[in-house]
Amino acid sequence: MIDSGTGQSVDFKVFIHKIHRGSSLPSVVAGGKYTIGSSDWSTVVYPADVRRCETCHDPKTATQADHYNTNPSAEACGACHDNVNFASGVNHAGGPQPDNAQCAMCHVPKGELEFDASIKGAHVIPVDSSYLTGLVVNLAKVTNGNAGQKPTVTFTLKDNNGNGIAFPTGGTLSLTMAGPTSDYGHTSFGSDVTTTPGYVTESVTAAACDGSGNCSYTFTHAVPAGSTGTYAIGVEARRSEVILAGTTKQQTVQYGAKNQVVYFSVDGSPVQARRVVVQTSNCNRCHVELSLHGTLRNQTQYCEICHNPSNTDFTQRPSATVAAQKTMPNQGIAFDLMVHRIHTGENLPGMGRDYTIIGYGGSVNDFSDVRYPAMNAAGTTGDTRNCEMCHNAGTETKLPFGKNAVVDPQGPINPDQAITAACTGCHADLPAASHALVNTSTLGESCQACHNAGFDYSVSSVHAQY
Ligand code: HEC
Ligand code: HEC
Ligand code: HEC
Ligand code: HEC
Ligand code: HEC
Ligand code: HEC
Ligand code: HEC
Ligand code: HEC
Repeated sequence: MIDSGTGQSVDFKVFIHKIHRGSSLPSVVAGGKYTIGSSDWSTVVYPADVRRCETCHDPKTATQADHYNTNPSAEACGACHDNVNFASGVNHAGGPQPDNAQCAMCHVPKGELEFDASIKGAHVIPVDSSYLTGLVVNLAKVTNGNAGQKPTVTFTLKDNNGNGIAFPTGGTLSLTMAGPTSDYGHTSFGSDVTTTPGYVTESVTAAACDGSGNCSYTFTHAVPAGSTGTYAIGVEARRSEVILAGTTKQQTVQYGAKNQVVYFSVDGSPVQARRVVVQTSNCNRCHVELSLHGTLRNQTQYCEICHNPSNTDFTQRPSATVAAQKTMPNQGIAFDLMVHRIHTGENLPGMGRDYTIIGYGGSVNDFSDVRYPAMNAAGTTGDTRNCEMCHNAGTETKLPFGKNAVVDPQGPINPDQAITAACTGCHADLPAASHALVNTSTLGESCQACHNAGFDYSVSSVHAQY
């Protein structure tokens, strides 16, 4: 089947492969567009890596499910590899192929080596390669963690097989401390801590570890005197490794360790972990392996430490690579505001807003084109009303009354009270802001009076879809 307007194939396997590779299709990268009828799919970014074929081809459930491994064809493979001309052999190392008869001879399901021409091998994502040593960090305990003390963290470094390893050459590891877990964001760790509001990050070197990965590090910053409750320390680490050295497939792979967060009492009271609102496995229903900040960060309870109510992109904004962004107010990055707004994405311009964060190296990250894949009953994407795709059951209905206000310099209200920040992350237009503002008094927000569970306009009833 060919779409009458654009001449594009609407064969299901071609269409699905192409839509989901959208913006990274070789033809789109080269400046083209992928459109069917009036729909432009060139901006679609698949939230997982398309090389994880199993996100769609479940080898266990669907009938004929292994066809993706056994039935290579110019149509199915060429949908993603759309700069390959199989007939002429252009961009095909296997030479010209008049038809599909020979494909499976060379593209077997699985070969001897990763990164070979087999279908599994060709699509191994470098960070998942079994040739990597691995880097597993385990924070074992925190001592000297009372208010006024400089905590010592004991931890281990291991490979994927559970053996202790030396601190990787050229690798990085850092520890971030924040608290109290009842409400992150407003604690100062000293007058020298100016770039990380509400938390402090210290970088750990090889000197902290012995040759077998037994490590101990003492913070140079103390838990502030007079602190109460529970504090948190999170870890991120990254290394770089050369695999298949000396072969034509030699490559350098940079990969991060799984983050871990540990909680400790600073006043002898029972340890109270931070409230859990979302969890990584929920995000990974779409993202499969959530990974941000150059593979360093991948666990939501770790994101929360830095993406706290008082943080913004203020350290990077002055170096924005787009001049107009430098003079814009800073962007609020509290976790609820940020994640709600990123996924509202392409619906933001209709509300007169965009959501742009200036990231590492001045990079301009404009999320106003994100197409949230969930559909409403009419089949339109962008339906964020199924809150529990991200949220743990019921957490979206527990309104965070009285929690720290959220800094939102580009918003119509700054700072936003906590509930307003969560709701207006998605309801980003002026009428919604105005409605929230009139329902906020010097005593706090009155939202619960109408939007609490059980009421006519409860969060669950107003978002009910069917
Ligand atoms: C976004 C979902 C998605 C992803 C990711 C995906 N596919 Fe597919 N693929 C499909 C759909 C849908 C079809 C059509 C199935 C049908 O017609 O029954 C298909 C069909 C195919 C076919 C044809 C199978 C047949 O029976 O003839 C092959 C081969 C294939 N895919 C290979 C791959 C490979 C290899 C990858 C990973 C590099 C991959 N696909 C990733 C959705 C996907
Ligand atoms: C869903 C999209 C998708 C489908 C379908 C797909 N591939 Fe790929 N393939 C990729 C991506 C992404 C890469 C990584 C390199 C890149 O970005 O082009 C890749 C890499 C490869 C490579 C390694 C060479 C290179 O360009 O790096 C080979 C070989 C390959 N694919 C063969 C196939 C064959 C054979 C099929 C059909 C069975 C197929 N692919 C189907 C997305 C796909
Ligand atoms: C004679 C062996 C041979 C045959 C037959 C063959 N290929 Fe290939 N193909 C290769 C080799 C070798 C590569 C390069 C592998 C690499 O880069 O790792 C390749 C690469 C590819 C790629 C990745 C192209 C890219 O983006 O770099 C795709 C897709 C592909 N083949 C699909 C097919 C399809 C579809 C057929 C049948 C129409 C086919 N091949 C037949 C050997 C073959
Ligand atoms: C229903 C699917 C879905 C769910 C569930 C989901 N996301 Fe996303 N997310 C997307 C899509 C689609 C994009 C846009 C594609 C992209 O940029 O990777 C995206 C983009 C993002 C981005 C920007 C990515 C970048 O590369 O800068 C972040 C950060 C993000 N999501 C975090 C999360 C977190 C955290 C959760 C869980 C609390 C979550 N997502 C849950 C679909 C989803
Ligand atoms: C150690 C602190 C820290 C942690 C942990 C952290 N971030 Fe960030 N993140 C920041 C800061 C600060 C910014 C603002 C821009 C800047 O300063 O780089 C930012 C910016 C971002 C951006 C926009 C810029 C970009 O590069 O795309 C996204 C998306 C993002 N973070 C997502 C996440 C997610 C998701 C997690 C958890 C998996 C996370 N961050 C964990 C500190 C952190
Ligand atoms: C794409 C993922 C995603 C979706 C979908 C989503 N949320 Fe959230 N939500 C988050 C994240 C991330 C947070 C911050 C979690 C944290 O601070 O630990 C959050 C926080 C909240 C909070 C504040 C909770 C607290 O205790 O601080 C409320 C209220 C909320 N969301 C309401 C909703 C509602 C209502 C919906 C559906 C209409 C929804 N969310 C859909 C990701 C999502
Ligand atoms: C993750 C995104 C998201 C969050 C967070 C969210 N909403 Fe919504 N909400 C929606 C979407 C999408 C709709 C459907 C109508 C629309 O597109 O505006 C909706 C609809 C509504 C409606 C029905 C009226 C209307 O505009 O159609 C009300 C009332 C509402 N939300 C209140 C809230 C309140 C109160 C909060 C905070 C506790 C909240 N929402 C948080 C996405 C969200
Ligand atoms: C006196 C009752 C009442 C109070 C108090 C109240 N709301 Fe509402 N809110 C409503 C009603 C009624 C609607 C419209 C419902 C509908 O259209 O289904 C609404 C709609 C909304 C919407 C959707 C608006 C839109 O334009 O899509 C948001 C978001 C919202 N409220 C947030 C809040 C927040 C945040 C607070 C507290 C600061 C709050 N509300 C306080 C009654 C109230």
